[in-house]
Amino acid sequence: MPRLIQGVELRRASLDDAAALAALIARSARGLGGADYSAAQIEAALKGVFGVDTQLIEDGTYWIACVQGELAGCGGWSFRQTLYGSDQSADRDARRLVPGVDAARIRAFFVAPEWARRGIGSLILARCEAEAQAAGFQRLELVATRTGRRLYARLGFRAGEPALHRLSDEIEMECIPMVKDLGVPKAPVPG
Ligand SMILES: CC(C)(COP(=O)(O)OP(=O)(O)OC[C@H]1O[C@@H](n2cnc3c(N)ncnc32)[C@H](O)[C@@H]1OP(=O)(O)O)[C@@H](O)C(=O)NCCC(=O)NCCS
Repeated sequence: MPRLIQGVELRRASLDDAAALAALIARSARGLGGADYSAAQIEAALKGVFGVDTQLIEDGTYWIACVQGELAGCGGWSFRQTLYGSDQSADRDARRLVPGVDAARIRAFFVAPEWARRGIGSLILARCEAEAQAAGFQRLELVATRTGRRLYARLGFRAGEPALHRLSDEIEMECIPMVKDLGVPKAPVPG
């Protein structure tokens, strides 16, 4: 775990945060994604797969990290089928997953460039893992960017075969499916 900056606070996102979250996501993708993707790929992704998913906010499973009152990062988990994407994505599926059978989703992690590599992504991910596990899920699944892959690999996710996701007629983006076993929740020790 990298050294965490002082004074990071986690809170659940609300619909009032949507505009600020959209701005943070765009800044994060442009500021941190450039080492892994072209500007054209990032701009195409910001028209679809990168963005706010209000379903996560409404479900109460999307988290914001604040530093000195400013949004520094966001990310969430989900008990619904949709694996990735934003409100703009076409192939959304709001059906509920079955805890103990299906893998909960890890969704839409974005950290502000000025707060990168300070443990904020790890902090939000730990909260999401704990909540998914408390809800009865024993596995996590996600689709990672190349940038995100390094964070998730560090925190115990296994990578599958990279696949190309079409963003527009001319533009594709390589993403990586990843999974993590949380294990069966421990039974309480009898008194
Ligand atoms: C991926 C992302 C959320 C990581 O957030 P973060 O707060 O910087 O991550 P952390 O500080 O918790 O990193 C934890 C560990 O993950 C690994 N890691 C994270 N980002 C990395 C990078 N760019 N290069 C190499 N390793 C990285 C490192 O092992 C790091 O520990 P270290 O800093 O002590 O070496 C951030 O880079 C981001 O917002 N990227 C742009 C948007 C994006 O692609 N999101 C992922 C969607 S799937």
